[in-house]
Amino acid sequence: MSSPTTPAATTATLDYNGKSLSLPVITGSEGEVGIDISQLRAKTGAITVDPGFGNTGACRSSITFIDGERGILQYRGYPIEELAEKSSFLEVAWLLINGELPSAKQLTEFEQLISIHTMVHQDFNRFFEGFPKDAHPMPVCAAAVGALATFYQQPETEQNLRESVIRLIAKMPTIASYSYKHSIGQPSMYPQNKLDYSSNFLHMMFATPCEDYVVNPVLAKAVDMLLILHADHEQNCSTSTVRVVGSSRANLFASISAGISALWGPLHGGANQQVIEMLDAIEAEGGDVQKFVNKAKDKKDNSRLMGFGHRVYKNFDPRAVILKKSCMDVLNTLGIKSRQLDIAMQLEDIALKDDYFISHKLYPNVDFYSGIIYKALNIPVNMFTVMFTLGRMPGWIAQWLEMHKDPDTRIVRPRQIYTGATKRPYIPMNQR
Ligand code: CMC
Repeated sequence: MSSPTTPAATTATLDYNGKSLSLPVITGSEGEVGIDISQLRAKTGAITVDPGFGNTGACRSSITFIDGERGILQYRGYPIEELAEKSSFLEVAWLLINGELPSAKQLTEFEQLISIHTMVHQDFNRFFEGFPKDAHPMPVCAAAVGALATFYQQPETEQNLRESVIRLIAKMPTIASYSYKHSIGQPSMYPQNKLDYSSNFLHMMFATPCEDYVVNPVLAKAVDMLLILHADHEQNCSTSTVRVVGSSRANLFASISAGISALWGPLHGGANQQVIEMLDAIEAEGGDVQKFVNKAKDKKDNSRLMGFGHRVYKNFDPRAVILKKSCMDVLNTLGIKSRQLDIAMQLEDIALKDDYFISHKLYPNVDFYSGIIYKALNIPVNMFTVMFTLGRMPGWIAQWLEMHKDPDTRIVRPRQIYTGATKRPYIPMNQR
């Protein structure tokens, strides 16, 4: 980023093979700078190499801004801290998708629309019955969201797309809770449209046909805040997946189903489950936190401190700061003593003073404390990443819609540096 006194240059020069190439420089609204190399191959025959795309800007986007060095996260210009404290998940969903905060009337209409689309087609029950009982809910959710494309096959006109957006946000809690109920062998619960979004999800998770579930407003508020914190995070792995799949003009449901699969990975959304498993393993092995930190530093050992580190945040993750406080508030309100929270805080304390973690710029990320809150809310461990999915839905949708409207969008098709065998003749089987 350029400092306020030194404006960014408008071109960069690349010297290659005795030729000099002038490359345009693009500057974003918050001052980030990108060198446009889109003509590089045409003009030089060379491509760029950037494993993991750590230095590659894949698009221009006006949805989410992150400054990893300064720990800043903003949705459409609004700081995450303010949204987490003052907004609701559906208001944030509207903001991400439409670009502005809704008026009171717009929000009420949006909430009503969401509440009347919460049911899934009755045939979906048969779909869920087909999965093994011990199926992880993440692939079940990915399959179910992909299957929505079979129920809503209309061409993607503006109006149909608006309906698909409402359906995805409205049905995701129903699909998520069905995947859980199926895994524990209980009948799925119908949504109750009089409840707000997060309360309705808790109702579908924990009510049974024999017993009502009275939603504790403290828990519903905590869920809503967690969903806000997860709602978007610019070009992360799953969002990039949604854009990559969507760039081939695959439909919205198919693109988001692919995003759910990407989110499942333990280095991405799956880390929140891994954090609790790690805390449990530390406790089971006698609670020696330092020993685990040493293992995470040891290059010969594959262990990592789950919930630590981030590709973008190199100082602190603002979501983790909000979550740590919320975690303590929720546990205090519910009067829960958590051994996992004690171990997590010890881990954080040791790691933040350790040279390895300091020099590698590794800090707690969003997944470090979220799992402890989910545990306090009685959300089962294998549903943690599904909670992330619920939250990320409006972000994926907003990014997919933005990509579709962007005239610069091209099908995503990276290149490679080939390192395999050079041309050689086929060897018949009897000569090998
Ligand atoms: N524990 C120990 N060492 C780590 C960790 C960790 N959690 N994370 C990174 N490192 C080390 C890594 O070994 C490497 O060391 P060296 O340079 O000496 O070889 C260096 O830090 C850079 O690691 P990297 O894997 O190249 O970094 P990355 O930017 O590709 O990966 C990450 C980012 C989040 C995948 C990684 O930090 C990680 O695996 N963290 C644990 C999993 C986790 O918590 N994931 C959730 C991310 S936040 C939610 C989301 O948005 O998905």
